[in-house]
Amino acid sequence: MKCILIPKHGEDIDNLLTFSDNFPQPARKPGQVLVKVQACALAPGDIRVMKGHCDYFQSPRGFPYIPGGDISGIVQEADEKSRFKRGDRVLCMFEIPRPLDGLAEYACVKEHLVEKIPDDMSFTDAAALTSSALASHNACESFVKPGDRVLILGGSGGCGTFLIQMAKNKGASYVATTSSDSELVKSLGADECINYHKEKFWQITKFKEDPFDIIIDLGVGRYEAYSMAKNSGVLKAGKDGGRYLTFSGDEPHMKIHNMGQTVKFALSILPRVFWTRLWPLVPRYLHHMDALEVKPGRFAKIIDMKLRVVIDPHSTDNTLELDGVKRAFHVMDKRAGHGKVVVQVAST
Ligand SMILES: NC(=O)c1ccc[n+]([C@@H]2O[C@H](COP(=O)([O-])OP(=O)(O)OC[C@H]3O[C@@H](n4cnc5c(N)ncnc54)[C@H](OP(=O)(O)O)[C@@H]3O)[C@@H](O)[C@H]2O)c1
Repeated sequence: MKCILIPKHGEDIDNLLTFSDNFPQPARKPGQVLVKVQACALAPGDIRVMKGHCDYFQSPRGFPYIPGGDISGIVQEADEKSRFKRGDRVLCMFEIPRPLDGLAEYACVKEHLVEKIPDDMSFTDAAALTSSALASHNACESFVKPGDRVLILGGSGGCGTFLIQMAKNKGASYVATTSSDSELVKSLGADECINYHKEKFWQITKFKEDPFDIIIDLGVGRYEAYSMAKNSGVLKAGKDGGRYLTFSGDEPHMKIHNMGQTVKFALSILPRVFWTRLWPLVPRYLHHMDALEVKPGRFAKIIDMKLRVVIDPHSTDNTLELDGVKRAFHVMDKRAGHGKVVVQVAST
């Protein structure tokens, strides 16, 4: 089958990514669904896996591997008693911590990570929704309350474009976000956009006068942003419900190759989670540990929300064309996507 391959860990996207047209098709195991892939959406995790910076907990089964974690496609084969049958249109998510081998003509996915999609949903939108909308939904369900004043750091990215809409749907009274694309985030329902290249959210007087209940950091603010939010007073104290929710660690390129580095990573996060819980005068620091938990019916619920799906213009419309895939990887690597970056895998 045709696919994109990565032969080893590395940083050099242009030299690492290759195209193959004779890679063996995966063999379906019981409990799995064989899917003819139509589209594959990229996420920051695809870059993390490629670079191998966190290979202790997030790596492929072996090399060469097929990158890509979120797909949409058409069911080819499933168990006899499966809820899926040949011809069903579906979306599928990768199984943590492995990529789903999504940039290929065929992929095998465990049934609980597969959901049917309606006939009027495009394969591009379906792939885009999968893990980003899930992580955003899980964050919103667990941490956003009706009436909250919410600040999202990184609102124009793959998760942020869903999170803005979900926070509004959940009843947030006010949603601000940092982004360089004010038009996009406001069209999704954001009340305010802070261009972080020009001003810092912690210096804005109106936020000090009417502080946020929750700041959700989509991996772009880090501990510095927490400290600034706390010291400036733009985020409420813990006793008044102030919360700072993070999606990742402090280092943009954290390295976790062994148990020692895993412990070091945990020790950079956990003490903050505990001391801010004990000290009511500072906002609580929260880490979104189970961002990708798939509860039964969750994808169906997300599909029913009829969210607007923003597709980044660097997405490819040529099927598995190598230069297009490389461009898409570069956008993810720079954290420059606006909405989701999606690679077309098939033409139907
Ligand atoms: N499948 C998933 O997507 C998934 C699942 C679970 C967890 N996560 C985690 O969730 C986080 C967010 O993922 P994502 O897919 O939304 O990321 P993304 O699409 O790569 O985010 C891109 C956005 O980040 C913004 N950005 C980049 N640098 C910034 C900075 N210094 N300050 C403020 N904004 C900045 C950019 O804004 P502008 O271009 O507008 O300036 C761009 O819109 C990541 O940590 C990821 O690992 C993702």
